[in-house]
Amino acid sequence: MSSEMTTPETIELKIDSLAYGGEGVARVEGKVYFVEGALPGERVRAQIIEEKKSFARAETVEILEPSKHRVEAPCKYFGRCGGCQLQHLAYEEQLVWKHKSLEELLARIGNVKDIAVDPVIPSPKPFGYRNRVGLTLMHAAKGKIRQGFLARDSHELVDIDSCHIAMPTINQAINELARKNEMKNVFGDFFGRLKLELVTDGQNTFFLPWQSFDEKTGARTKPDEGKILREKIGGIEFEFSPHVFFQVNSYLLPQLIASIGTLLAESKDACLFDLYSGVGLVGVSLSDRVKKVVGLEENKLAHQFAIRNIKRNKIENVYVYTGRVESQFKKVFLKQKAEKNILLLDPPRGGIEASLVENFKEFQPEIDSIIYLSCEPSILARDLARLKQAGFVPERVMPFDLFPQTQIFETVVILKSKA
Ligand SMILES: C[S@@+](CC[C@H](N)C(=O)[O-])C[C@H]1O[C@@H](n2cnc3c(N)ncnc32)[C@H](O)[C@@H]1O
Repeated sequence: MSSEMTTPETIELKIDSLAYGGEGVARVEGKVYFVEGALPGERVRAQIIEEKKSFARAETVEILEPSKHRVEAPCKYFGRCGGCQLQHLAYEEQLVWKHKSLEELLARIGNVKDIAVDPVIPSPKPFGYRNRVGLTLMHAAKGKIRQGFLARDSHELVDIDSCHIAMPTINQAINELARKNEMKNVFGDFFGRLKLELVTDGQNTFFLPWQSFDEKTGARTKPDEGKILREKIGGIEFEFSPHVFFQVNSYLLPQLIASIGTLLAESKDACLFDLYSGVGLVGVSLSDRVKKVVGLEENKLAHQFAIRNIKRNKIENVYVYTGRVESQFKKVFLKQKAEKNILLLDPPRGGIEASLVENFKEFQPEIDSIIYLSCEPSILARDLARLKQAGFVPERVMPFDLFPQTQIFETVVILKSKA
């Protein structure tokens, strides 16, 4: 590792790894530099933007020796827009670094060191895969409206007219409105900024929470009119409201669910508790692997769609409850438990509450295993450490790249109950 001050503001650095956030990492005399825009193996000239005693943040000013894995980012907003962090790295190499950062976070935060992490399963589509994006609108001169994404770690708006990781129908909807400067007609008057979500299933595209936009007719309708989205995953068609959670990458989803299915190979007599069950995607998909599935979800609209998905697919062994997992798990578990019980946890990014782990500890002798799905590896690592204390030991770690070009990925962990 070499360092040489060239001007008071810039420093030459040799990058040796990639941080979870996508920055290149250099180490000089015990100090860690996080360098935006730099890749492992590169020698760069960087400008310090924040300096602390043990670490500094910097931006790449010049690439002196490029990495052989560096590629031209296809998106013209890359580097300014906060959505993607890895477009400048070849896709196969993104998978390599996601794997390394998962291993590192699990070991450092979760003390999970003694099991090998499976290779990261790639997305069949590294671009054009997202079925949901968040857009911000702002007033511009002459009555026009700007639309864009927020810059990284900032409230600055980066104007965009398309997004490389969004599905084509989302881009068509953005383009159409921007071209006609119709954002104003559609969304009416607003002060300051307006935050929107665009959701698509490849047929219909909705702007939330205000209006929906029909690709073919150009008609705008209120979302409350009962419009729904449909996704066929692994032969089962799911319906859901654009207002509730659905996984953003439907291309890799069948493989993710099939892989969880392989973890249930000898579970024909088991009850699968699908906690944080949403519209029933995972539980309904895997209902033929187990004796019964019991779902628990706090969002009432998602719960209604779960019931609808169970009925329309004529599934007879899935029972769903609505309520918070923290307050309802114990009651539901005591009512529904079978000889063999498996918990499937798919919480939001913040992970599971410590009080819930206490519940699992209480029933540990009756719980065969836990399957944990997470898109936030540092929180996953924290929860694995807590679950280990409660008697559940990780056996296999399977990462899936549901979010190519970004720092994020999904991880499935199977934990077995200690005898
Ligand atoms: C990551 S999503 C997973 C949904 C579902 N498993 C799927 O794959 O479609 C998390 C779900 O947990 C629900 N949720 C969040 N906090 C909850 C809580 N404390 N109790 C029950 N459900 C909760 C959310 O409404 C959301 O549907």
